[in-house]
Amino acid sequence: MAITFNEKTKVFSMHTKNSTWQMQVSKYGHLLHLYYGRKISEGELSYLVRGINRGFSGTPYEAGEDRAYSLDTYPQEYSAFGVGDYREACLCVEHEDGSRAAELLFDSCEICQGKYMLSGLPAVWADKGEAETLKILLKDKASGVEVTLLYGVFEEYDVITRACRIRNGGETEVWLERALSACLDIQRDDLEMITFYGRHTMERLIERGKCRHGKIVADSLRGSSSHQQNPFVILCETGAGEEWGECYGMSLVYSGSFLAVAEVDQLNQTRFVMGIHPQGFRWKLKAGEEFTAPEVIFSFGGSGYGDLSRNLHRLYREHLTRGKYRDKRRPVLLNNWEATEFHFTEEQLLSLAADAKELGVELFVMDDGWFGGRNHDRCGLGDWRANPKKLPKGVKGLAEKIHQLGMEFGIWIEPEMINEDSDLFRTHPDWCLTAPGRTPNRERGQLVLDMSRPEARDYLFDSIGKILRKAKVDYVKWDMNRSLSDVWSGACSAMRQGEIGHRYVLGVYELMERFVSCFPDILWEGCSGGGGRFDAGMLYYMPQIWCSDNTDAIERISIQYGTSFGYPVSSIGAHVSVSPNLQTGRTMPLATRGIVAMAGAFGYELDVRKLNCRERELIREQIRWYKQYQELMLYGDYYRLTKTEENQDFAAWQFVSRNQKLSLASAVCLHARSNPLFGRIRLKGLKEDAWYQVRRERLTDEPGMESEEQEVTMCPGGGLMHAGVNLPVFEKDYESVRFVVEMMEC
Ligand code: GLA
Repeated sequence: MAITFNEKTKVFSMHTKNSTWQMQVSKYGHLLHLYYGRKISEGELSYLVRGINRGFSGTPYEAGEDRAYSLDTYPQEYSAFGVGDYREACLCVEHEDGSRAAELLFDSCEICQGKYMLSGLPAVWADKGEAETLKILLKDKASGVEVTLLYGVFEEYDVITRACRIRNGGETEVWLERALSACLDIQRDDLEMITFYGRHTMERLIERGKCRHGKIVADSLRGSSSHQQNPFVILCETGAGEEWGECYGMSLVYSGSFLAVAEVDQLNQTRFVMGIHPQGFRWKLKAGEEFTAPEVIFSFGGSGYGDLSRNLHRLYREHLTRGKYRDKRRPVLLNNWEATEFHFTEEQLLSLAADAKELGVELFVMDDGWFGGRNHDRCGLGDWRANPKKLPKGVKGLAEKIHQLGMEFGIWIEPEMINEDSDLFRTHPDWCLTAPGRTPNRERGQLVLDMSRPEARDYLFDSIGKILRKAKVDYVKWDMNRSLSDVWSGACSAMRQGEIGHRYVLGVYELMERFVSCFPDILWEGCSGGGGRFDAGMLYYMPQIWCSDNTDAIERISIQYGTSFGYPVSSIGAHVSVSPNLQTGRTMPLATRGIVAMAGAFGYELDVRKLNCRERELIREQIRWYKQYQELMLYGDYYRLTKTEENQDFAAWQFVSRNQKLSLASAVCLHARSNPLFGRIRLKGLKEDAWYQVRRERLTDEPGMESEEQEVTMCPGGGLMHAGVNLPVFEKDYESVRFVVEMMEC
């Protein structure tokens, strides 16, 4: 049993392969957190919780003169506002009389096989036998408000998931002003918080800071998980790295505004909370109604964040993503966006596709611009029917022609948005988010469709669904190109407007669920101006997400590096684009652009018709190579070999097959030096004593250097991991090299 409850001591223990979580019902009925960390197979850690009478830290009434007992200093499993815990609260309930309080006391518990699921929300899933669930019911006696804490234990993955349901078990209505998902009170003060910040075209850069008295916050108020901060954070002991140090990873399975706070309190204890952002949030619960707070995935790594990432990668691949493409190879695609933007004809698309086919591309994707009057970004969104001037025989006509070429076919959509210059807006001006008496904030010339309205969702499902039913579409890119503002819905009463932000997200999930279940053969790719909604919630519906609108391979190294901390390679949409790059003007070898994009769901995004013979040859070779090693790269173990935030000379990463027989390592020169130092990388994840053959292939697309330089070495895994392998002396910026590492038969 991964979960146990000791009736006598009232201690709950949850064990994974390498971690333990313990909590205890206190003598007064509060659920106290005891421990989360390295595995402790036996024993209960109740002794860790201590108290003394401290000024300005009060005592619950029922504790009488036991003044050492304070909710303000004792570690809580789920913190609530208004009853003497002054640290960050998960729950704040406003009652009908205007009071704000909830004293959550233990009522009952249940342990069962399998994994709980959350209605209307994405969550990690498991079959019976693959996980266990613990449900703990807490009650606020005075109001009847009930909180059910949910825990899912995935032993093999070192993962414990949490979520909660809040039910109004009283007779009068209540308002939730805060309904965060989880709290973790760690009794230590040596932690650092790693967050992933950024901006459009520069997402998920890594930042690290010491948790100190007061609070560190990572959050989004944009209505989506955002480019600016990602809903995945790591708390680690000071100095932790890839292979050393205790780390806690927390990932919110949610795509809307979120809050993550790490707070060090007066006793140097660290509290971490995570969930839906309370700002702008207010949810009414009538008697008997229930609210579900989204899931947080907790993962503990005792030896650095490398293992932590790999555990999450496996969990996401095997228990978060669903559908046909969960562990299937993905077709190599060509997307027309950077080649044509909005300006294309069917003929041009066909010539692009035919050329791409000839190079080995398997899927042609028609991006933005094919519907309504969409010739620029100020019109057309909402009018989900083909523009006959561009597609005379509709999407169906083009799809047939692409299939005749022997390729699969995909389209771009942006269902959640609306342009004022669209028939949809002219017919339903009230279907967008705008506050009465105000002019709305525009972004990219568009407004946001009110996804909390079922009729708007039905319209989207019908109009887009009609196209998907009529034409054979194998892939859909679901985009979302702005942040939410003016969050006000005409379909909802004034008192309930605080629900709209979350109802929007629930609406998006409901629509996505309808699409993915009705069209299970389609490969869905998420997108939000690149990686503005790259979160675990989206991965429940779509196995891959376009990682960034920045396609510069050198910049992508940092973006993909940061993304890899919380998300698997198989989820990272990555394309080879033109050089000089359209966003940065940087010139990079095609070989390097390829090697970087291959650390992801791979494709091309450039006008292939303009390539010269050498480039065409290289692309054919790239695609052949990718197909050969795709499974290893998408589904193998991923290792970061350098720190992009520190190493300015080169970046390197590695894939290792689960049986450790095959591995690939790639390195890119970021900065060539005039009097260069010797570079070396230490490989990871190999078998210590097994002998490997290492083929080093230096990649180039220089004219006249047709043959790749190759060097072959043989060495046991131990040598390759502890001493490392030599990088070539790079002569130019952005050169790259790869190592094919194969276990030798004895
Ligand atoms: C967003 C996407 C791009 C492209 C454009 C089309 O920016 O991230 O890849 O699809 O929209 O408008």
